[in-house]
Amino acid sequence: MKYKKSLHYGLESAANIIFKGDNIDVLNNIMDDYKGRVDCIYIDPPYNNDEEYIHYNDSDGFDLWMEKLTNILPLLFDLLSEKGSLWISIDDGELHYLKVAADKIIGRKNFIHTIVWEHRTSRENRKAFSNNHEYILVYAKNPNEFKKKRNLLEVDENFLKKFKNPDNDPRGTWQSVTASVQAGHAVASQFYTIIAPNGKKHNPPLGRCWAYNEQRMLEEIKNNNIWFGKDGNGVPRIKKFLSDSKRGLTPETIWFAEEVGTTNQAKKQLKALFKDQEVFDTPKPEALIKRILEISTNEGDLVLDAYLGSGTTAVVAQKINRRYLGIEVGQHVLDIVLPRLNKTIDNLFSEENSVDDDNLGFELWL
Ligand SMILES: C[S@@+](CC[C@H](N)C(=O)[O-])C[C@H]1O[C@@H](n2cnc3c(N)ncnc32)[C@H](O)[C@@H]1O
Repeated sequence: MKYKKSLHYGLESAANIIFKGDNIDVLNNIMDDYKGRVDCIYIDPPYNNDEEYIHYNDSDGFDLWMEKLTNILPLLFDLLSEKGSLWISIDDGELHYLKVAADKIIGRKNFIHTIVWEHRTSRENRKAFSNNHEYILVYAKNPNEFKKKRNLLEVDENFLKKFKNPDNDPRGTWQSVTASVQAGHAVASQFYTIIAPNGKKHNPPLGRCWAYNEQRMLEEIKNNNIWFGKDGNGVPRIKKFLSDSKRGLTPETIWFAEEVGTTNQAKKQLKALFKDQEVFDTPKPEALIKRILEISTNEGDLVLDAYLGSGTTAVVAQKINRRYLGIEVGQHVLDIVLPRLNKTIDNLFSEENSVDDDNLGFELWL
């Protein structure tokens, strides 16, 4: 191993490591130790947008940019555990080229989804279109395993607001969803007239049929599971009770700024930490990374970020008790990541919290 431990912060027991070095070189050095052991890899590589940022350049040009990613993806995929997933941030400029290249290297069958993230909420009036979103490509080592293991999202305030109880149902609050489905794959028993308790007749809308057959629908009406509106004349809808949804929410593929933050919010957070320093240009919000790690991992699982930047992935992993490896080639690993992680660990030590003490710390390898 070419890299050596140069310092540690926090507890010796913590096995978290930040490497300062070129990611491909570091990965080749750690491959024997970590192959098949990483549960979530998040990468936020340069986007090939020809920018010169304060802390790094994104001006390799397409061929070199693509070559570097093509070289790193197989290494990352080898590191993934059986339930592991790989999440790649990218914007509109290179999404499609990267998707095709990644499909070839990783395998189309391993592709899970493209997530759209609303990365800004202000309007950019100087351009033809105000580009308000980025993408995250999600791949899994084994899509079936990933589906079994991925966590649901916590039920949040906005979701709870959708549930009401206009008929004082003793089973609690509910929301109504459509009782009709597209007729494309329907069977004959789904086409019939529903007679509401007040006698009003309802036929399915054109091109649609009822979600249940007539016998089941009668049963559901009898059990007060179908809603005909306050006055009883409304189109029939199915009541879905909060008590049946509380387990958690299946993650959706559009992630709004309101839930996971914006690039500007991430910058402001960093600015508050490093008042006298020039702020890192392209940090991701902690809430965005938290969502990724919470979906893909559990406490104690191992996370890797091979383009660590200002250290967001390591900070979030530390806060929610995941083990982590971070790789960053720039000097800012010493000027930003280290002090940011130190502060995070100090805060966690001083708070009475549920973070597993053994994990509170990291090593720097150079
Ligand atoms: C878009 S930034 C990542 C930002 C990060 N997600 C955050 O929240 O701060 C990309 C980072 O990748 C780093 N980088 C680029 N090429 C690299 C390489 N070959 N090895 C390691 N790091 C690299 C850059 O120095 C930069 O800090």
